[in-house]
Amino acid sequence: MSNWTSSKLTLRASGSYDRDVPARLPLAAQRLVIVTGKGGVGKSAVTAALARAVAGAGRRVLAVEVTRGGLGPLLGAGTLGPAPTVVAPRLQATALEPEEALGDFVQGILRFRMLARRLLESTSFQVLAAAAPGLPELLVLHRLLGWVEERRLGRRVYDLVVVDAPASGHSLPLLAAPRTLGTLTRFGPVAQVLARIQALLTDPSRTLVCLVTTPEELAVRETIELHRELAGPLGLPVAPPIVNALPPRRFGRRDEAALARLEATGGAHAYLVAARYQLERRRRALGQLTALRRALHEPAVSLPFLFAGPEAPGGVARLAADLAAAAGLTA
Ligand SMILES: Nc1ncnc2c1ncn2[C@@H]1O[C@H](COP(=O)(O)OP(=O)(O)O)[C@@H](O)[C@H]1O
Ligand SMILES: [Mg+2]
Repeated sequence: MSNWTSSKLTLRASGSYDRDVPARLPLAAQRLVIVTGKGGVGKSAVTAALARAVAGAGRRVLAVEVTRGGLGPLLGAGTLGPAPTVVAPRLQATALEPEEALGDFVQGILRFRMLARRLLESTSFQVLAAAAPGLPELLVLHRLLGWVEERRLGRRVYDLVVVDAPASGHSLPLLAAPRTLGTLTRFGPVAQVLARIQALLTDPSRTLVCLVTTPEELAVRETIELHRELAGPLGLPVAPPIVNALPPRRFGRRDEAALARLEATGGAHAYLVAARYQLERRRRALGQLTALRRALHEPAVSLPFLFAGPEAPGGVARLAADLAAAAGLTA
């Protein structure tokens, strides 16, 4: 296990995940948490739950949606806009808009509003901006850096910025951008911004990248590759993986033995078929947890499959409680 994750593991008192020892997520002092993973694995649900967990522990949180998804409704708000709005005590949320990010960047670099406005209004600049490799990624990161560093009356505005990042395929170029672009731009204001972003992203005391997966083979395989890429060549602080939607344990050993007996006596009752399906589903999911643990040499943090989904009342709160426990946060 890497040195920035706590080596102290705790067993869940409730024992709801048999055999599973949740790893701890270092969230108590982090300033930027980036949540990514394969499409549809629950990134938005986990982002919402992380934001709630940290805000619940008394820190001021900004939850940011980078690509349009369901983050707003998961936080009990409507569609999110470009300006952060309060969605719960100590919790604000916003959607990162490309145009806003571009304007923010140009103004930050040029510092002269007039000049910046003129440049932004020119069509040739907009065409160039859309075509420049790595520029959209840089704009996103620059905007995030702005929120992390934002201060009002000498006090930081957000203790933590949690980002619902794009799916793996887009998050990799996003997180690699400072490095890729840094080799092209060594001097000047852009190089300075890149250096500040890179310093933030690679600082394990400030940043944490959370990879979400479901306990399914394809998603797990993608998680392992992404984890290796991000933690290896890119040198980013990557948290223990978060396995979302783990099927609950429905049957004990005795039930299993009873089921096998009934099946052996020729029973093909619909209930038996359903029970066998549940057992197999959970067995396969636990197999994926083991594969993940073996590949990454650390146990995952698991979140339960919620029958009504995280959108139902209490869904995000349930996931938030489990994440708070894994992070050692208390309300
Ligand atoms: N723990 C869970 N249990 C049951 N369903 C879930 C869980 N987490 C997410 N889902 C469902 O999975 C789908 C994808 O979730 P979402 O958070 O939007 O994923 P992503 O942001 O990765 O695309 C949604 O329909 C959501 O209701
Ligand atoms: Mg999403």
